[in-house]
Amino acid sequence: MRTPVIAGNWKLFKNLSETRELLQELAPRVAGVSGVEIIVAPVFTALTTAVQAAMGTTIRVAAQDCFWEEEGAFTGEVAPGLLKDAGCSHVIIGHSERRQYFGETDATVNRKIKAACAAGLTVLFCVGETLAEREAGTTFTVIETQLRTGLAGVTAADLQRLIIAYEPVWAIGTGKTASNEQAQEVHARIRTLLVSLYDQAAADALRILYGGSVKPENIRGLMGQQDIDGALVGGASLKADSFAAIVRFQE
Ligand code: G3P
Repeated sequence: MRTPVIAGNWKLFKNLSETRELLQELAPRVAGVSGVEIIVAPVFTALTTAVQAAMGTTIRVAAQDCFWEEEGAFTGEVAPGLLKDAGCSHVIIGHSERRQYFGETDATVNRKIKAACAAGLTVLFCVGETLAEREAGTTFTVIETQLRTGLAGVTAADLQRLIIAYEPVWAIGTGKTASNEQAQEVHARIRTLLVSLYDQAAADALRILYGGSVKPENIRGLMGQQDIDGALVGGASLKADSFAAIVRFQE
């Protein structure tokens, strides 16, 4: 009942011609796939190029971050409304790389989520624990804090504009995927928390993606889990063949 989402986070890769080329290669490989939402997230400078290249396809374009104000003296920032204006439908917020290297906190994530929803963007809200946190047995408390703070003041109506991505930091770019069971366990806990924050219907409707070394070889097992509704893919989204194979996980 929840439409799967396969999203590619291109991170700091692909210039304009590479963006065009990757989308030209991807489009025919995913044409005809129905019942899967396909999203790619290029760098800011390639967003309009990606939007143009994806025209006439079912591929949607996301930004990798945004600011919480719509305008003002905020050198270097990009407003949610500007992303919408550039043709983006989605924005990734709270990626662990932003938390780790750029001072993103649960509080700034919360402001960004609310601003992005207000601008009419769909948010891919990332949460996840580090290896130290998992080893200390605090995985769920960390994720619960990220979710409670990140979603503070996010209304039930806004929640419909939200997709959660669970990305264990220790699985990102390491080749170490969480096992199907490890991922399912966290996804189920996230959904249970959403029931208490909102209600059963809202929690049932919300898509929860897994991210962290997703590849064509492991997507099927992950998607076979009850609470895994898609994937946020890094490395394997940079090649048309591997990303298309992930998108086509049902075949
Ligand atoms: O946002 C996706 C990402 O962090 C996962 O990266 O390279 O492990 O698939 P990767």
